Order: sequence, then C-alpha cells, then structure tokens
Amino acid sequence: MRVLYLSSEASPLIKVGGLADVAGELPRALRSLGVDVRIVLPFYPALKKASFEEKRLGAASVKHAKRWREAEIYSTQIRDVPVYLVDGAPIRQSNKIYDDPLVDVDKFAFFSLAALTMCKELGWQPEIVHANDWHAAMSMAWLKRYRNRDPFWTGVTTLFTVHNLPYMGSDVSQGMKDYDVTIADLEHLPPWSRTLPLPIGLATADWLSTVSPSYAEEIQTPEFGHGLEDLLHARRERLVGILNGIDSEVWNPAHDSSLTVPFSYDDIKHRERNKQALQGELGLEQETRIPLLAMITRLDHQKGIDIALDALLEMMDVDWQFVLLGTGDTTLEDRAEQFSAVYPDRVCFVKRFAPRLARRIYAGSDMMIIPSRYEPCGLAQMIAMRYGSIPVVRSTGGLKDTVEDYDPRSKGTGFAFGRAEPRALRDALCRGLSVYRDRKEWGALQRRAMIKDFSWKRSSEEYYELYRGAIDEGVK
Ligand code: GLC
Repeated sequence: MRVLYLSSEASPLIKVGGLADVAGELPRALRSLGVDVRIVLPFYPALKKASFEEKRLGAASVKHAKRWREAEIYSTQIRDVPVYLVDGAPIRQSNKIYDDPLVDVDKFAFFSLAALTMCKELGWQPEIVHANDWHAAMSMAWLKRYRNRDPFWTGVTTLFTVHNLPYMGSDVSQGMKDYDVTIADLEHLPPWSRTLPLPIGLATADWLSTVSPSYAEEIQTPEFGHGLEDLLHARRERLVGILNGIDSEVWNPAHDSSLTVPFSYDDIKHRERNKQALQGELGLEQETRIPLLAMITRLDHQKGIDIALDALLEMMDVDWQFVLLGTGDTTLEDRAEQFSAVYPDRVCFVKRFAPRLARRIYAGSDMMIIPSRYEPCGLAQMIAMRYGSIPVVRSTGGLKDTVEDYDPRSKGTGFAFGRAEPRALRDALCRGLSVYRDRKEWGALQRRAMIKDFSWKRSSEEYYELYRGAIDEGVK
C-alpha cells in the first residue's frame, strides 16, 4: 500500500501546533503495519537552518499561468520514515512557516501541486494521496480534475483530513486559474466558501476524515460546522472520525531526559520531586501541597484561555498556583501577562515555545486545564494523563472522546464540564481540588489516567482500514 502524506508541519523537523505531532508520528505507526507511506513537506527557509541531513533528488515543474514554476526536491527522514522536501520560489517568499494569507495561499498551492508532480518525476506512484488541512487541499482538487486524463494518476484515491475546520485558508481563485484547477461542481458549498482551499478540499476529496469521532459528528451541526455543516452532513457516508494517538516512546515519563526525575506508574511518588523542581524553576513557592494547575497551549481563542483566567479569578480564595506556557494571539498574551503581573506569587506566564519545559510541566503539574471552545482532538490531555497530570476539560470533540469524568466509584480519568463558561470550569476545578485533598483517592485517579492506552496502534489500524476500503472501492 503506497500513500503520499502531505502536511505543512511534521515533528521534530518543523512544528507550530498539534498537526506536527500527528504528521511526525502517524506515518511511522503506519509503516509498522507495512504501509509504504512517505511524507512531503515544504522546504521552508527556516527548515534550512535546522541541522539534519538532506539529499537532493531532482526537480519537478508545475505549470503556472502558461509558464513553468520549478520545484527542487530533497529527501530526508523522520525516524526512518521517508520525507520529501519541496523547495521553490513560492516557498522561499517568506521566512515564517505561516505568514501573510496572500503569501501563504500561493506558497501552499505550489507545494500541493509540486508534491504531485514530484511523484511522477520520481516514478513513485501512490495509491492514496492523503492531504492534511487547508495547506494541502489543492492536491485534492487537482486530482479530482486531472486523474482521469493521466494514466499515472488514474485510480488514485484521495483522503483529506481536517485538523482544524475554521482555518480555511484565503481566496485561492487566482491560483486556481493560474494552475488551471478550476472545479465546476462546487454547488454543495456555500458561495462564500467556493474560493477557499479547505472547503474545496472537502468538496473534492474522495474520503474525508477528522481527528476524533465526536468532532466528526459535531462539524455536521451549525454550532461547530462554521458554515460547512451542510456539505459535511451531505458527505457523512464519506466522513470518518479517527482519534489521534500519542507516540508512547516520544511521551514516556520513565525515559524523559527533560525531567528532573523520570518516573513511572510504579514509582509515581517521584513525581513530587518534579513538581518541587518545577515550582522552583517557575519562581513559585516550593510547597508541594499547593495544587499546581497548568495550561500548555497556543494562545488562540479556540483554546479558552480567557475562560481559564476568568475562572481562576473567581477562585482567589482557594489555594492554587498556575502556569501558562505558550505564545500566540497578542491580546491573549497581554491578558495573561497582566494576570501574572497582578498575582506574581501564584501565576507564572511563560511566553515562549519551550518543548522541554512543556515536558517538565506535564510531569510536575497536578492538573491540566483545557477549556477549549472546540477541540478536533487535542493532544495535551493525552500527554497530561500519561504524565500523571489530571485533565480538566470541556467535554467537546476529542476531549470528550479521551477524558472520562471522575466518579467516586473508582472511575474516570479527569474532570469534564459542559458549557464553555468560566463558572462551569470553576465548578469542575473545585470538584478536582476536593479530590486532590484526598491523597489516596488522587493517587488512584492518577494511576487510572497513566495507564490509559493512547498509543498510535489503534488509530493507525483504523487508517489502514480506511485506506484499504478506499483502494478496494476504487474511484468513481
Ligand atoms: C489541531 C487541533 C487539535 C488537534 C491537532 C492534531 O491543532 O486544534 O485539536 O489535536 O490539530 O490533529
């Protein structure tokens, strides 16, 4: 089974958000099932500064406005998974991974089409082209339009995975003309969306998937569908929700060199030393009895950072410390900065992208707050559970599918709440804090969370089945 896997990010080479973790880990799990999956990424200028070995493989040209745009193809590996890197003038236009929408739309359209041309140049014929998020969506449209005119592509099936529905990309109509990929039948899409890459991908791919079963249901409703619910509902027979996993080697508190003291399920008491060291590192009082609450996230409206800060403000009479790690939206950054300036002895805001510190926070915090307005899957809650930090989550999307609400009859792995409101979060946190005071009960809860199996094994098998079914059914 040959699969070309298009993504704009893949850990550890290049990471902005959760997509990178998935693209860096799922293909590896698929390879262990015998799938010949190969990743293709843009060769961003930022990536050129990173130190890894790459080899030049050749060139590919993409037709653009009656002329040709050249792509240079390089190869490297992520933990034994082959990776192709596409370079070219549109990709060199900016130094950032994600930049101005106008620059990005051109950059990623070129990337998506060059990735296909590349296969032909290399003589490697995928059976499935699996594209992720809006950045890779144009490959779906191109195949829809051209696969029956070119024997190399005839019969190739397409799968489009949505990691984040509201990120649709910007107007690509000029690109559609220049690359000659105008698609006639987009009538199921609302008119405003017919020029945006993500909706075009949703309308043109043979199969659709998203990253949790609950999110696959939710996006068929007006509350979560961002105007695309009708199309998604109409295509529901072709829409699958497959929960993301986490790589149990990458995320293993027993072998994590970032931690002060590695620990496992059996010696969970060592966690405390991580907590104490973390409190010190963050400049908080080194008193392990005080519950340490945490958030590790992009600072984005989606993630409900404002909900968390408001909830904490309503709980000033309770003892807690809070650490927030992440960067993003400047309004949210300013709010978090203010909050930590007013309560410096309880609140620490680390405005950085700091993967090693993130690991120490997973290992040393007591609860991970995830009050997302929507959450396609979410990885933080799974990592937190594996590291013994108890998730407090809004029950939506992948959070709903991975965190089971605490039940005093020895059940549950976290605390869940319904509405995306400070009060609902506060109540869940208070429930959590009352269990926290019962050390024995808390230890049992941590153990239940730590042994949950979120490895890629199950998810990769589900992708395998989806690929298999898609190949067997063929292209209509
Ligand atoms: C996006 C989503 C997140 C998901 C990740 C990987 O970042 O917001 O919920 O876990 O993609 O699929």
